[in-house]
Amino acid sequence: EDIPVITIDGPTASGKGTLTDEVAKALGYHVLDSGALYRVTGLAASRAGIDLDDGEAVAALVPTLELRFQDGQALLDGEDVSADLRLEATGLMASQVGAHPAVRRALHQLQLDFRQLPGLVADGRDMGTAIFPAAPLKVFLTASAATRAERRHKQLISKGLSANIEGLRADLEARDARDKGRSASPLQAAADAIELDNSAQTIEQSRDLVLSWWRDRR
Ligand code: C5P
Repeated sequence: EDIPVITIDGPTASGKGTLTDEVAKALGYHVLDSGALYRVTGLAASRAGIDLDDGEAVAALVPTLELRFQDGQALLDGEDVSADLRLEATGLMASQVGAHPAVRRALHQLQLDFRQLPGLVADGRDMGTAIFPAAPLKVFLTASAATRAERRHKQLISKGLSANIEGLRADLEARDARDKGRSASPLQAAADAIELDNSAQTIEQSRDLVLSWWRDRR
């Protein structure tokens, strides 16, 4: 029970994933990318022809999924679905299935299982509010919508994909509105979270700030 956890929550494309990886690497901790669990669930349900608005049906699928995360790959029933998981269409499916309390309950224990020695950095929307409410360090990471759209744009361009910044920004804002507006574990900062706006920061600056907060707490 004394395994340390740092939670990093925040809106879409705020840089949570990168910051989580960097902090975990510096401390030698494990990583929980909880968004990937919602993405896999949305993808699997959609492939199975399940109505994503049917929370009970999607939740019933969860225990039947054979999931593995290794070496930066996500395996669903043995198939590498990493590329599919990153698609914005899959992010939308994740947001749709994540709105159901039954789905959130079905994924709860799976997330707790990632808490292993020597420690965990957990990335998501409700890590500090619902999954690890007793975590000694909770970060709520934000960045302006313009910054987030620009970063997402660069990411896509670097992969040789084309994208339109205005469209990306509209997609991000629509997904955030859904995540904030739902009644089940909405996206919100925990009362004891430290808010970090990283719009004007490099990843190294954000990482070092979080590491200094962590040192202060230990
Ligand atoms: O972080 P990522 O973009 O991968 O998350 C995809 C979607 O999964 C989010 O928009 C959100 O709806 C859902 N999600 C969630 N709770 C989490 C992580 C992700 O509801 N802890």
